[in-house]
Parts: sequence; structure tokens; C-alpha cells
Amino acid sequence: MSKLKILSGMRPTGRLHIGHLTVLSNWMRLQEEHDCYFFVADWHALTTSYDETQPIKDNIREMLADWLAVGIDPEKSTVFVQSMVPEHAELHLLFSMFTPLSWLERVPTYKDQIQKLAEKGKDISTYGFLGYPLLQSADILMYRADAVPVGQDQLPHIELCREVARRFNYLYAPVFPEPQGLVAETPLLPGIDGRKMSKSYNNEIQLAVEADDLQQRVRMMVTDPARIRKNDPGHPEVCTVFTFHNIYSPDEVGNIAEACRKGEIGCVACKKELAVALDTVLAPIRERRTAILSKPSYLDEVMEYGKKKARKVAVKTLELVRTAMHI
Ligand code: TRP
Ligand code: SF4
Repeated sequence: MSKLKILSGMRPTGRLHIGHLTVLSNWMRLQEEHDCYFFVADWHALTTSYDETQPIKDNIREMLADWLAVGIDPEKSTVFVQSMVPEHAELHLLFSMFTPLSWLERVPTYKDQIQKLAEKGKDISTYGFLGYPLLQSADILMYRADAVPVGQDQLPHIELCREVARRFNYLYAPVFPEPQGLVAETPLLPGIDGRKMSKSYNNEIQLAVEADDLQQRVRMMVTDPARIRKNDPGHPEVCTVFTFHNIYSPDEVGNIAEACRKGEIGCVACKKELAVALDTVLAPIRERRTAILSKPSYLDEVMEYGKKKARKVAVKTLELVRTAMHI
């Protein structure tokens, strides 16, 4: 396969959790073979946090540290922060001139999100939030990406991006390829309480979790409520610990399920095994993260370097765009 241009981004939510590992592993695989752009979408964070901007700077650094700790490589990929490449704003503005309002209003997440946040007392019926997927289109088309690894929920945004590319090419000149969304199968990991893993529930296992915190969180995981005594027969299919074993102890799951069903293994022992399996994966990430943060200027260097690499491309794209639009 020839080298593709791949682009993806995340809003800076601060430290990532173990559920993000599948996304990052996918990025890692892609960075070995393709020309990849991975960026922190900090302007997108403003659409919902415009009244609480103070944590964003730190959140960018925390998330970047996690990316690098997992193995996203700023030499192999272009790793940058959106707001450090102001060309994204210009492209967004130019796109806004020919994008029909109705295209943005009909993006399924638009009305849903406004309503969902309104229930929590937050008003995001703003110009910026309406433009969220258009800014995203600018992010993608800026690097003339062929493919965009995203979650299923983002597909309507990719569809909008394709429409924007088509409209630009039709109105002015064929500058932009139409990118494909790449949806990877990601096993859904619950939080330690069995609900969706989320910072707001405080039920997450951070990617670079400290060893003792990891032990404690695994100990707190919910199991099959039918198991009161150690030799009660269990139902691994309803157990959060087992869901994790499924992913992190692939060679053992068969035995664990059987032992659980027969009441031959207790939950305490089962959790101990899980903690060991998780630590095998997470310890190297924790160590690399500590090393990365031990030199405070390192992240600044990475961001500066990524900005230079990204802008080289962005400036060229904007030249093509301005020429095509006669401005
Ligand atoms: N909207 C994406 C999310 O919430 C983040 C994002 C912004 C993005 N710009 C992008 C993803 C461009 C892929 C490509 O996950
Ligand atoms: Fe869950 Fe393991 Fe207990 Fe079975 S033994 S209920 S799989 S923790």
C-alpha cells in the first residue's frame, strides 16, 4: 500500500485512561506506515468550555505526555497543537463563507449536544459550537488527509467534511481530496463500577496510573453480585473484572471463566491476577511518562517542533486555497 496521509485529533481532556489505549495503539500502528498528523484540538475544547478556559493549557500538556508515553513519536508523525497553527482559523473562516447553515444544523450531534448540556445548565447555542464540525473539516482538509481514524460517533463530521471538500472543489478548483473515516473496532471498557469509564464518575484507570492506585482500583472493581462466598458459582459474563481479563489476559480467559463458573477461584485472587496483567502493560507507560516530564522544557520543544512541521504544510494549503478563491 502506498503511503497515505492520516490525520486525527483529540480534545484536551487532561490525563487519558486505559480506554484510550486502543485508539492510541491504532495511531501507533498507522504511524509506522503512513504520513500521520496527530493534534490536540484545543479550540474545539473552547466550544464547550468557553467559560472555563483556565485548565486547558495544563490539559494539553497532560494529554500530550500520555501520547508520547504510549509511543506516539514526534519524529515519525507530526504532533501538534491546533491553536499553534493559526492557519486552521483562516481556513475555517473561508469555509464558513460557502457552507450552508442547514448542513451544520442537521449534523445529528448538534441539537443533541445542545440539549444534553442545557439539562446540565450549560448554554452552548453559540456560533462556535455550530461551527464545530466545520472547524474539524478545516483541520482535516488542511493536510489534505486521505483518512481520519475516528470513533463511530464522528462519522457525521467526516461526511460533512467530504461535502465541504466537494463544494470547494466545485466552486473554485480541485484542491481537496475527500477523506475517508477509519472506524476501528474498539472494545468498550467499563469503569471500575461497571458504568461507562469517565473522569466525571471517578471510575477510571488512568493510563499512567501509579502502581498502588492501580491495585486499589482493581480491588474496588465490581464483580458478579451473586458471588458471596468464595466457592459460589460465578457468572463471568456479568463481571467487570472479567471484561478486563478478556482484553488484558487473552491466554487466561478460558481458564478464568471456567474456574469462576465452578467456584474454584475467588474474586480476590482473580483481581490479583488482573492487577498483575494490567501493570505489565501500564508500568512502561508510567515510566516513560515520568521520564518525559522530568525535563520540563521537553514538551515545549515537542510542541514547537510539531508546529513548524504542521505549518509548513498548512501555509502551502492556504496558498492553494487563496489562489483558487482569487484572494
Ligand atoms: N471532534 C473530535 C472528537 O471529539 C476531535 C477532532 C477535532 C478531530 N478535529 C478533528 C478528530 C479532526 C479527527 C479529525 O473526538
Ligand atoms: Fe469476576 Fe473473577 Fe470473581 Fe468471577 S472470579 S466473579 S470473573 S472477579
